[in-house]
Amino acid sequence: MENKTIYILAIESSCDDTSAAVLCNDKVLSNIVATQQIHKEYGGVVPELASRAHQQNIVPVVHQALAKANIDKKELSAIAFTRGPGLMGSLLVGTSFAKSLSLGLQIPLIEVNHMQAHLLAHFIKDDLSTKPTFPFIGLTISGGHTQIVLIKNYFKMEILGQTLDDAVGEAFDKSAKILGLPYPGGPLIDKYAKDGNPKKFSFPIPKVGELDFSFSGLKTSILYFIQREVQKDADFVSKNLSDICASIQYTIVKILMLKLNNAVKKTGIKQIAIGGGVSANSGIRKALKNREHSHNWETYIPKFEYCTDNAAMIGIVGYLKYKEELFSKQNITAKARYHI
Ligand code: KG4
Ligand code: ZN
Repeated sequence: MENKTIYILAIESSCDDTSAAVLCNDKVLSNIVATQQIHKEYGGVVPELASRAHQQNIVPVVHQALAKANIDKKELSAIAFTRGPGLMGSLLVGTSFAKSLSLGLQIPLIEVNHMQAHLLAHFIKDDLSTKPTFPFIGLTISGGHTQIVLIKNYFKMEILGQTLDDAVGEAFDKSAKILGLPYPGGPLIDKYAKDGNPKKFSFPIPKVGELDFSFSGLKTSILYFIQREVQKDADFVSKNLSDICASIQYTIVKILMLKLNNAVKKTGIKQIAIGGGVSANSGIRKALKNREHSHNWETYIPKFEYCTDNAAMIGIVGYLKYKEELFSKQNITAKARYHI
C-alpha cells in the first residue's frame, strides 16, 4: 500500500463552514470552503440555520473540490469525514453525505476527529514549512476550542488542559460585541490593537489550574469596565478603541503564553504547534516568534487556510488512517462530543 497513489475526498461540516477537499497522498489538490454568512446577522452561529445551509452547500462544494482537483469521483480511494465534535445537525449532514458516497462508490469510509485534524494539519505537504517531530505540544485556539494537547504520535494524543467555559475565539468575539463591533470581532480587535497601547488598561488573569483556561470572567470584567467608563463619558469606546483592543489582546495573549509556558515546564517539550482560527492573531504570532529567540522554542503555525475550519485537515487524517487501514463501518454515527 505504501507506494500506491491515494486520492481522498474529505468533508468537514462540524460548525458553520461547509468544506470539501481532495488530497493526493499528503498533498492538497483542492480545499473549498463555503463560509455561511447568515450567522453574521445574529452575532453568532445559529445551529438550526447552520444545518440547513450545509444541506444547500454540500453538493456544490464537493463538485467544486473534485473539479478543481481535476479528479473524477471514480478515481477516489476513500471518503474521510468529520465525525465530531461539533453541532449535531451540522455533523449529520456531512456524515450522511460521506456514508452515502462511500456506499455508492464502494470505497472505504474514514471517520475523523475534528480536534485531531486541527493538530495534524501540520502534516499537510507544503514545500515551504518544516514539520514538528513527535512528541510535540499542540494548542488549538478557535471560536469553539481552546486545548493544550500532548501529541505522542499521529493517533495518540493526551489533553493536558482546556477551557472550563468560553473558547478563546469567543473571548475575542464577545469582547468585540461589548465594544459594538460586528461578528466575528476577533480580526477587528487584532486590527485596532495594532495602533493601541497594550498597557493602557489592565484586565485580570483568571486563576484556574496551571494548564486550564477560563475566559468568562475576563469577558465580565471587560463588560463592567466599559459600562463604568461609558457612564462617565458616553464616547469612551470610540475615543479609546485602539487602546482598549490592544489591552484586551495583550491580556488574552498573556494568558495563552502563560499556559504554554506551564506546558513546556511540565513536559520538557519545546516544540509548539498551533491551530484554529485565532492562530491568525498577530499578537499570538509575535509572542510565539519571540519565544523562539528568548526560550529556544520551535513554533509551527500552518498556512491560515489550514488553521480555520477546512476539509484539507480532515483529508490529511484520512490519508494517515488509510495507510493504516483504519476504516469505519457504514453504521457509524456522528458524535457532538468526541474526545481525542
Ligand atoms: O477556526 P475558526 O475559523 O472556526 C471555529 O471557531 O471553529 O475560528 C474562528 C474564530 C473566531 O472566534 C474569530 O474571531 C477568531 O477565530 N479569529 C481571530 C482572528 N482571526 C480569526 N481572533 C483574533 N485575532 C484574529 N486575527
Ligand atoms: Zn475547528
